Amino acid sequence: PVEKIVAVGGARHPSIPLPIDLFRPERANSEGLDLYDRAVLDKTAADIRNHPFASSEAERRTAGKGVSTSLDTDGVGKVVGRAHTAFPAWSQTPVEARAACLERLADLLEENRTELMAICVHEAFKTIPDALGEVREAVDFCRYYAAQARLKFVPLELPGPTGERNVLRYGGRGVWATVAPWNFPLAIFLGQTVAALVAGNTVVAKPAPQTPRIAAAAVRLAHRAGVPEDALILAPGGPEVGAALVADPRIAGVAFTGSTATARRIARSLLEDDARPIVPLIAETGGINAMIVDSTALPEQVAAAVVASAFQSAGQRCSALRLLLIQEDVAERTMEMLDGAMDLLNVGDPGNPETDIGPVIDQAAYDRLMTYRESMKPRWIKTIDVPVDGLFVPPTMIRLESIDDLTQEWFGPVLHVATWKAGELAETIERVNAKGYGLTMGLQSRIARSAEIMEALGEAGNIYVNRTMIGAVVGSQPFGGEGLSGTGPKAGGPNYLPRFAAERVTSTDT
Ligand code: NAD
Ligand code: ALA
Repeated sequence: PVEKIVAVGGARHPSIPLPIDLFRPERANSEGLDLYDRAVLDKTAADIRNHPFASSEAERRTAGKGVSTSLDTDGVGKVVGRAHTAFPAWSQTPVEARAACLERLADLLEENRTELMAICVHEAFKTIPDALGEVREAVDFCRYYAAQARLKFVPLELPGPTGERNVLRYGGRGVWATVAPWNFPLAIFLGQTVAALVAGNTVVAKPAPQTPRIAAAAVRLAHRAGVPEDALILAPGGPEVGAALVADPRIAGVAFTGSTATARRIARSLLEDDARPIVPLIAETGGINAMIVDSTALPEQVAAAVVASAFQSAGQRCSALRLLLIQEDVAERTMEMLDGAMDLLNVGDPGNPETDIGPVIDQAAYDRLMTYRESMKPRWIKTIDVPVDGLFVPPTMIRLESIDDLTQEWFGPVLHVATWKAGELAETIERVNAKGYGLTMGLQSRIARSAEIMEALGEAGNIYVNRTMIGAVVGSQPFGGEGLSGTGPKAGGPNYLPRFAAERVTSTDT
């Protein structure tokens, strides 16, 4: 079955990580770093600004160049070979010891939080709250998967109706390739990697070419936490390195997060060689995520949820709101509210604690988004001023004639708006479903029956009712889509780890 998560309400500020640590409730989640405390926030911002990583603006702009050299095809073969050789010893390491490595890694991530946040700000242009969210989510993945491994990876005695003893065991599959995007360069990079490791696999981990430094820092910490150097190897580089990696016949599984187009390429590559074993692919991809607003919704709640969901992280979240669908009776009133809410947004230096939205990731993304935005100029409903110097894409709302007009994901702060007619909620949901993606979907309504309709009909992995559509919490809102948005299982959910493992049954005549 597909896994569907429905999250209702929850009024916390979308950019501040949870105040409690889900996995260690006795501790505050952001211990020592309460972003509601102005003095703490200012001190953190100063530490990040003065971090040696940020030695110059020029270095920030060329982040990734000159530090981690990209592997060539021979290099990819060599690291896969090393990980292959390391597999037997790591897979025979007891689950408890592997889980303990993840927990030590979580501790190290916390100890090095400011350093890691600084790299996220300077390399990936994360705002300070987003950078803290990265570290928190990475920590949560480590602790959650450690706990899940202990729970799941134990021998399971099965019935023996004819007198034999049947035992199901989990083991590693071999070398996994993990391929990550730049937009969660720590949390997703590390989440899929530690999941593969704790399941008993060795891993060659390829970060996005835009964000090799944060990945290198994470891998260094994993080694310090006890993961053997050849059990986890960083493979920096671009698409060619990723392609060579997944094409290597010794790769026993691929965990990929990125665009739908790349997922397809990887799927084809895995099937190309008839002599190669058939290996699992876990792919988490993009979405055309819609939020439906009806006439009973609270306007202030809608404005806050829409602005955060569409524009936080400069719209560079796979979960981000792309298509706002407002019941036509309240369209004018809702747009007025959104207009005012957008005027309050601060776009600028991500290291400044006042900033809500930073630059987009690189020149190519900037050019793509600005060209598209310009082509839609006659349809702009609202845009705001941004600094001219830098890769700042002005948050923009674009009016569509029809829900069906948006057919691709625009990965930036561009929100499309259309209307729907009263009484057509089910049809509206079906039209969103028809786009074929299924990552996040939102509803703003005070009618309980409408939430039930959304829950029943919405073909999306994560459905959010009367709240933002971003910031899924590990262990509470397992995250991932269906259709063009991914294969499942959900990251941070109870069904994730077993997909990385081989299941073997021993039947012994007693
Ligand atoms: P991308 O697909 O361009 O790249 C992702 C990774 O794949 C990079 O490391 C890249 O170098 C590598 N790659 C590219 N071509 C490859 C190939 N042929 N073989 C192997 N690897 C290859 O995506 P991106 O621009 O880095 O990230 C943005 C996309 O990621 C958006 O579409 C977004 O929606 C999606 N995303 C999805 C999730 C999710 O959980 N569903 C989370 C974050 C981002
Ligand atoms: N897990 C990330 C979010 O929910 C992608 O925003």
